[in-house]
Amino acid sequence: MSKQFAVIGHPIEQSRSPELHHAFATKTGIDLTYVKRLAPLDGFVASMEEFFAQGGTGMNVTVPFKEQAFAQCAVLTARAQIAKAVNTLWMENGQLHGDNTDGQGLVNAIQALDWNLKNTQLLIIGAGGATRGVVYPLVQAGAKKIVIANRTLARAEQLINDLKEAVPTAELSAMSLEQLAGNFDIVINATSASLSGDALVLPEALQFQHAYEMAYGKPSSFLDQAKTRGVPTSEGFGMLVGQAIESFRIWNTVEPNLKDFL
Ligand code: ATR
Repeated sequence: MSKQFAVIGHPIEQSRSPELHHAFATKTGIDLTYVKRLAPLDGFVASMEEFFAQGGTGMNVTVPFKEQAFAQCAVLTARAQIAKAVNTLWMENGQLHGDNTDGQGLVNAIQALDWNLKNTQLLIIGAGGATRGVVYPLVQAGAKKIVIANRTLARAEQLINDLKEAVPTAELSAMSLEQLAGNFDIVINATSASLSGDALVLPEALQFQHAYEMAYGKPSSFLDQAKTRGVPTSEGFGMLVGQAIESFRIWNTVEPNLKDFL
């Protein structure tokens, strides 16, 4: 029988994970089935447990269940512990294991663009769960200095406090959006502004060489401003593919090439 996978969320109809995993499976010759699984808002744990009890091999977790998935795991990777959220589950020795592949997905996407990460100064705009999940993998990939800028400055300061022990080799600092200034190798938009159709204004004092928008398929004032400045840009489809590849690698011990799926 083929290996069974699922992505669980609420809503789930929008998920592109099944088509990505089926494309990886075709490319790598692995026999698998990957389905969307809608769990009731109060029914994540029961639905997840049923999936594994019925012989499921691995499960991706999306909004709004990533923190609940984290809380259920008996064994967590370091990057999942730091992210405090899990998007990849599997059973091993009778125990639920959890990882978070979002940050490595971003790293893989940036590397596939041939943008350098070694010894770089990065600016991440936003201080929510999306930012929490990517800081440690970015530092592991070579970022030396990361500024986290947020509309609510206190939230950026709190996040840096939480993360600084985990990334002793990098210099982390907080800025408010109004203060935004300096010159960065890459600026990453990790806010939900473009998802909700809000504008994000980048001040003239802010300079950068590359711009990455984590959202995709939405108009982005962030990307529009970056394009006006003439720097290379990308929206977040590569990150989506990258996190899926990293989950696929964990479950199937084969790593598809990201550039084949962009
Ligand atoms: P996620 O898990 O996707 O990161 P989140 O935890 O709700 O979602 O965080 C959303 C982030 O987008 C926050 O940094 C938020 O800023 P605040 O902390 O000040 O709320 C940011 N954000 C959302 N809409 C924004 C907007 N219109 N302008 C600037 N920042 C915005």
